[in-house]
Amino acid sequence: MKMTSLLLKDALGRPLRDLRISVTDRCNFRCTYCMPREIFGPDHAFLPRPELLSFEEVARLARLFRDLGVSKIRLTGGEPLLRKQIESLVAQLAGIPGLELTLTTNGALLARKAQSLRDAGLQRLTVSLDALDDPTFMRMNDADFTVAQVLEGIEAARRAGFDSIKVNAVIQRGVNEHAVLALAEHFRGSGVILRFIEFMDVGATNGWRMDDVVSASEILARLRQRWAVEPVEPNYPGEVANRYRYCDGAGEIGLITSVTQPFCRGCTRLRLSTDGRLYTCLFATDGLDLKTPLRAGAEDGELLRRVSELWRHRTDRYSEIRSEAGRSARKIEMSYIGG
Ligand code: GTP
Ligand code: 5AD
Ligand code: SF4
Ligand code: SF4
Repeated sequence: MKMTSLLLKDALGRPLRDLRISVTDRCNFRCTYCMPREIFGPDHAFLPRPELLSFEEVARLARLFRDLGVSKIRLTGGEPLLRKQIESLVAQLAGIPGLELTLTTNGALLARKAQSLRDAGLQRLTVSLDALDDPTFMRMNDADFTVAQVLEGIEAARRAGFDSIKVNAVIQRGVNEHAVLALAEHFRGSGVILRFIEFMDVGATNGWRMDDVVSASEILARLRQRWAVEPVEPNYPGEVANRYRYCDGAGEIGLITSVTQPFCRGCTRLRLSTDGRLYTCLFATDGLDLKTPLRAGAEDGELLRRVSELWRHRTDRYSEIRSEAGRSARKIEMSYIGG
């Protein structure tokens, strides 16, 4: 198996390193840029339970992906903490040697779950938080969650002693631009790494327009009006965020430039949906169905062959060709594939 993992590169020479596993397509938030209420309302059809991969199925696939070169797994959703007994999946995955394990959450249930996730073996954590004032945050999550609830979750995570805690903030023109300095001020010197994300045209429901994107360079300029910051080398090749540090020693901050400076060239990410499909790009339209062969009793070798084939033929680089790509109406939704 070692041979396979050493040789497995996609059609553009990129190795497979990261697996993002979505464990539910449900969310308790209705962020206007991700699950707008008009579309994800009471009548929206979420995946029926039998369609969801079981924890045993996920863990079996995770082992196979590790054999193909994956060294980091990130659990996502929807909101991953809504999946019942998620700690039990964390424990199963944490038992697989050679995998770093992390999770992205909206933080609403974190105050209750941080310690049990840590105890189950979760190493790192990323919490989304788009503003520090309730009027803006509540308008954005559209589900009455307050800033204080998420901050309590982050506090609980700090007490639980994760290896690192990051906060993601999506910045939208005219919606939460003022949150840039407020969030930076709040998390400076706290040890929590704040990252600003350019608003992306994921899915087909968030009404994305280029005019709504606040570029990373503009965000950086705003930060620099207040503090001196300098770039830091990436933690690993192909890291999603560009890293910076405050020159006064107040820690690290990041910018995720998916729209204005795409990072497809170093993209080593594969995404597994809740219902067992594999997507080679966040902007893909179709996924490879692994659940059917898995449930039909396929042996490991057969599953490995299918995944290797998929990766070898991969040519995705949507963000680099966004302007030529045209607007496909069929792109998968962020809440389905977990970002
Ligand atoms: P670490 O570097 O391990 O902290 O993880 P990460 O930055 O990959 O994970 P996170 O879930 O925090 O992702 C941050 C943001 O970057 C989210 O908005 C993701 O949707 C976005 N992102 C992550 N991977 C990709 C990618 O492959 N392509 C694009 N366009 N955006 C991505
Ligand atoms: N553009 C940029 N980031 C987004 N996220 C969700 N939808 C979008 C979008 N359209 C972010 C979430 C979370 C991360 C996984 O992706 O806020 O932090
Ligand atoms: Fe918001 Fe994340 Fe839920 Fe989407 S999945 S609605 S971004 S909290
Ligand atoms: Fe990877 Fe697709 Fe994102 Fe490019 S757009 S970085 S190929 S997931």
